[in-house]
Formats: sequence, structure tokens, C-alpha cells
Amino acid sequence: MTDLFDRIKADKGPLGNWAKQAEGYFVFPKLEGEISNRMNFNGKKLLTWSINDYLGLASHPDVIKADAEAAGEYGMAAPMGARMMSGHTNYHEQLEKECAEFVRKEAAYLVNFGYQGMVSAIDALVTKNDVIVYDVDTHACIIDGVRLHAGKRFVYKHNDVESMEKNIKRAVKLVEKTGGGILVISEGVFGMRGEQGKLKEIAALKKKYNFRLLVDDAHGFGTLGKTGAGTGEEQGVQEDIDVYFATFAKSMAGIGAFFAGDKDVVQYLQYNMRSQMFAKSLPMAMVKGALKRLDMIRTMPELKAKLWENTNALQNGLKDKGFDIGKTNTCVTPVYLHGDIPCLLYTSPSPRD
Ligand SMILES: Cc1ncc(COP(=O)(O)O)c(C=O)c1O
Repeated sequence: MTDLFDRIKADKGPLGNWAKQAEGYFVFPKLEGEISNRMNFNGKKLLTWSINDYLGLASHPDVIKADAEAAGEYGMAAPMGARMMSGHTNYHEQLEKECAEFVRKEAAYLVNFGYQGMVSAIDALVTKNDVIVYDVDTHACIIDGVRLHAGKRFVYKHNDVESMEKNIKRAVKLVEKTGGGILVISEGVFGMRGEQGKLKEIAALKKKYNFRLLVDDAHGFGTLGKTGAGTGEEQGVQEDIDVYFATFAKSMAGIGAFFAGDKDVVQYLQYNMRSQMFAKSLPMAMVKGALKRLDMIRTMPELKAKLWENTNALQNGLKDKGFDIGKTNTCVTPVYLHGDIPCLLYTSPSPRD
């Protein structure tokens, strides 16, 4: 028998084992000052590369004013309780209505954190007779949702349509026996690689096979599509997304997230998503702040235009300088450094500089 804590002390996990060398610098760095493209770090003003404040809303004076006014009026506690019990308000409903309209779906439902919400939505949507088919590179929250699934799951090679179809066919065979359904899950924009999911191709497969499509558009919302409605709009297949998800933690520079889709599906989520049924609802200040941010995204197209101007300048500059930025076709800009963790830790000059 092993004492649990002896094991934890001996093996801190794949990243934790590097804590001594990396903490405070590569991981858990303390960035200080206004959220911006340059922030204070260890007494120096450095470029910040990894803040998902795509549209620069985090430190926009109108956003800060709206947040402060809402917090002044309601504090950070209200409403108290889960949505179903005592945490439901007109403002929550209004934000849901506006989110749904923005992404051109019938209805939407808020969740407190994208991660927690995604795990819970996947859990709610499938039973043991259903099959999940998903991209191998999807975000950890999708992987964790899939882990909760009591039925079969098939994973396809990243953005590989042939592998996707092969696995959908496997799923079809299986559900013919179980009587279940199929849920395909992709990201709109893969947050690490910056590649758009092959939503157009998935939509074409929907004409051949019977499945439902859940898209995590955390990085597409506000950054892609004519109106900023995301990757589905960009690829002209928004209506083929059965369950659309976006977080407020990227373009909206806030906290919270939402699912959108047909009314009956959203209502099902309302009544079956355990992370919302058994947890406090989003604070009013966040909800009112999100209404302000959404209004700005809707009415200030110059925010997205500036994002793309910066993105194009950055990506062209990096390519010109010989950096490998992979196959990104979004504003997510990966820079691939070849080697392992020790290699990175002992690189000189430091990648942060
Ligand atoms: C693709 C994707 N999905 C979900 C999430 C989680 O969202 P949240 O920060 O709202 O929990 C993230 C955030 O990193 C993400 O990149």
C-alpha cells in the first residue's frame, strides 16, 4: 500500500516536476500593471504575448466604468444561489438573449466558467448508448467532458476529414446496435495551433450521416466572421452547428461563457447541466459587464479590424524572421520551438526576453 501523499511528493506530475526551475518565470509569472501589450515583470516592462484579450477590452475605459458601476450597484455577491434556485435575474436572461442573437441561434444559457460548463454540457448531452467523435487536439475541457462519458468515444486525427469520416462510420455502426445518437465535437479555432476546425467539411458530412455537432468557439467568437459571430459565420456554416459554445474569457475580457442552440436543446441544458444546477450563478457585475462588452463588439467593428491588422503584422514579421508559426489561419499565433522542456529552460537568451 502507498500513502497518497508520499506518491504526490515523489512525483509532482509532468509539469510540477519542473516547478523549481520554472516557477515565477515560465509558469506562475507575476505580471503587474494595466492589462496591455506591455506589462511589468520582475521590474522590467516586457511584451506580453499570452493574454487572450483579443480586442483590447480588458483595459478599455468604458468597460472598466461599466464593471465599476455594476459592482458599485450590486456588489460581487448578487445574486446568491444557483440559477434554478435563487440566482436568476432579468439581466442574466437579457445577456442570454443578446448572446443568442449575436451568434444567430434561438436561445442561449450562461455558465460560470467555460471549462466547467463544457465538461458539464457534454455530460448532459450524452448517455451510455451515445457515441462521441472528437478531434484529438481539442481543449482539455472537452477531453474531461469526454472522460465522464459512460459510452464509447472515437477520436480522429487533428482536422483530418478522412479520419473523421472513418470514425463517424464506426460510430454509426455502433449506434445501430445501441439505439443511441452521435455527438461530434470540434473547436472552432484550435487554441494552441491557431487552425480553424474543418467546420465546412463537418457540415458536409452531416448531409451523409446523422449526428449532432458541438463547437467550442472560444477563440473564434469576436475574432472571426463578418460580424464577429465566430468560425461558423466565417465558414458560412453557423446553422450547421447544433450546440455553439463561446467563453467570455477571450474576446470579451471577462469571466463566464454560454451555450447556444435551438430553444429545446438549450432548455434541456438548463435543466440537466449539473455544473449550473449545483453551483452559484454568474455575479450580476459580470453579467452587466458582459452586456457592455457584447454591445461594444457588436457596434465597434474597428476593434476586430485592429486585431487583424496587428495579427497580420505579427504573423508576417515572425515568418520574415524565420520563426515557425505552423498553419495558423486565425489570430492565434503559435511559435513552434523545437526541443524539450530542459532545452527551453536553459535556452539563452531566455525566450521571455
Ligand atoms: C478552446 C477553449 N475552450 C474552453 C476554455 C475554457 O474557458 P474558461 O476560461 O471560460 O473556463 C478555453 C480557455 O482557455 C479554451 O481555450
